[in-house]
Amino acid sequence: MPLGQRAGDKSDSRYCGVEVLDFPSGEELPAVLSQSLSSAFDFLLAPLVDPGYRPAPGAVLPVAASDLVLSPSQWSSHIVGKISEWIDLDSEDEQLRLDSEVTLKQEIAWASHLSLQACVLPPPRRSSCANYARVVNHILQGLTNMQLWLRIPLEKSEPMDEDHDKATNNNNMNDIVDSWEWWNSFRLLCEHSSQLCVALDISSTLPSMNSLGRWFGEPVRAAVLQTNAFLTNSRGYPCLSKRHQKLLTGFFNHSVQAIISGRSNHNVSQISEGVLSGDKDHTEDTAVRHALSPYLEYIAYIYQKMDPLPEQECFEINYRDFLQSPLQPLMDNLEAQTYETFEKDTVKYTQYQRAIAKALVDRVSDDEVSTTRMVLMVVGAGRGPLVRASLQAAEETGRKLKVYAVEKNPNAVITLHSLVKLEGWESLVTIISSDMRCWDAPEKADILVSELLGSFGDNELSPECLDGAQRFLKPDGISIPSSYTSFIEPITASKLHNDIKAHKDIAHFETAYVVKLHRVARLAPPQSVFTYTHPNHSPNPSNQRYTKLQFEIPEDTGSCLVHGFAGYFDAILYKDVHLGIEPNTATPNMFSWFPIFFPLRKPIYVPSKSPIEVHFWRCCGATKVWYEWAVMAPSPSPIHNSNGRSYWVGL
Ligand SMILES: C[S@@+](CC[C@H](N)C(=O)[O-])C[C@H]1O[C@@H](n2cnc3c(N)ncnc32)[C@H](O)[C@@H]1O
Repeated sequence: MPLGQRAGDKSDSRYCGVEVLDFPSGEELPAVLSQSLSSAFDFLLAPLVDPGYRPAPGAVLPVAASDLVLSPSQWSSHIVGKISEWIDLDSEDEQLRLDSEVTLKQEIAWASHLSLQACVLPPPRRSSCANYARVVNHILQGLTNMQLWLRIPLEKSEPMDEDHDKATNNNNMNDIVDSWEWWNSFRLLCEHSSQLCVALDISSTLPSMNSLGRWFGEPVRAAVLQTNAFLTNSRGYPCLSKRHQKLLTGFFNHSVQAIISGRSNHNVSQISEGVLSGDKDHTEDTAVRHALSPYLEYIAYIYQKMDPLPEQECFEINYRDFLQSPLQPLMDNLEAQTYETFEKDTVKYTQYQRAIAKALVDRVSDDEVSTTRMVLMVVGAGRGPLVRASLQAAEETGRKLKVYAVEKNPNAVITLHSLVKLEGWESLVTIISSDMRCWDAPEKADILVSELLGSFGDNELSPECLDGAQRFLKPDGISIPSSYTSFIEPITASKLHNDIKAHKDIAHFETAYVVKLHRVARLAPPQSVFTYTHPNHSPNPSNQRYTKLQFEIPEDTGSCLVHGFAGYFDAILYKDVHLGIEPNTATPNMFSWFPIFFPLRKPIYVPSKSPIEVHFWRCCGATKVWYEWAVMAPSPSPIHNSNGRSYWVGL
């Protein structure tokens, strides 16, 4: 039963599971499941095999329940398998190591037979876990659908076992181990398998928010909340600290589901009614109530307290972390559907109208309004929304306008003609079906309005197009936008990395993608990359650019893995009117652009306190423009997209 109603949220975070601590012997599993489901839990994290089992020739696997006691859909929808915790694949004891390997493989084979969606692997017992990872990697090669969730304690922990001996002998070694490092070593050893995920154990202490933030870019499938992480409120009920609440809502926002684990520390018999939505039969049937129900009710309360997803976010939900090729509006002709999507973004046109209105007022004083008619050219007019915004700005300011609408897509020009006729703008608007770079304009413009911006600002070749159009702008004429700047920031994005890796070629790792970023960790604030200003009166204009940036990751983050760079833009339309998607200054409620993502062929491990040095180039050839990018520190990457061999934008 979902934790509650949260408009638009269709992610796994609506479902909460409970860990079964004791091995359900005999045929107890159906009863345990039934009691948990009737207490509104959605699934069990349950041991599959008797923990006392050790492999022996001819031994029958002592499973918790025959495959017949639950239906196939119950197994796959309501049971996550818990692999025996005693297994230790990196033990010095060879027999234990070998028994562990056999048992792990047997348990996973049984779980696959049951069609479970996932099994939770016990945490590595020491930071050196190569043999454990090797066996898991073998298993992953043969798995089709099932995921393996490696259990990792979230708090920074005391070093374990042999690590501890090393730590005590080495004064330089920090006594606390960052458990993210365990996960990182493990997944590197397993070659970033997309079926290897994380279940994070959350107890009473938490590391810093920056350190926690790293997990949002990792494939965390479950947050296992230990009952000892809960405090007690004045009425004796379980509750979480503010920091735990913030973390939990962060996980919910990143589609992570909760699992409650541990013995009840809160002996509350009364429950608040109806906390779980749809819980119509929520009468005081305490006989069947699960001992951890008060914890579940609190989790449901936190979930329901979250703000509903904004309408736009609901609309965009299917685009989350979905890689798209950027548009090529110069080389290709956009389709009607694409124009329609643009035109729904009223915020964008309102900003343009504000900018145009300000420029008109600056250019024509109140005394001149009756005698002066401005020439305004919309270059790249599409189906006409900027023509409308220009005419509305003229009406709003009482200025007279003559408008040229220049568009190179003949299909959009058809719509422009019908729009002009429909609106009765024939005396105001002249339609020009041409590429702005080669149009021979009959007169010069006071104001040049364009929207040729991509997610990275210049990546749809606005600089090249506007350089071509500048010929017909008066020497003191105004360009709207007057400038635009691109930005990048390093991110952890394991999902995006795996999706690109699935193509099994280098070209896909040397391509920039438009993507609604969701399961990502933003590691350092964005920095500006390239700026273009229009009109460009410099004596040696060139649109080639090169920049080197250094990102400092906050010290308390710890080490991290960079999968690539998220890119954004901000455009100054006119004076103080801007428009953009750079997260710190993004125009609210504007949805025309998703960020861009520049991936790295091989993710780069960044040790704690090490800066990241990245180089970006914008290169121009006779027929194409492209980006190249490379990391120099903490370790060099190859130059990506050398000579535009994998990704370019056609001129
Ligand atoms: C991003 S769309 C914007 C369309 C419209 N202004 C809007 O806001 O809905 C860019 C438009 O510019 C046109 N375009 C791009 N390069 C052009 C060029 N060199 N000359 C004329 N039109 C161009 C494209 O065909 C496309 O219609």
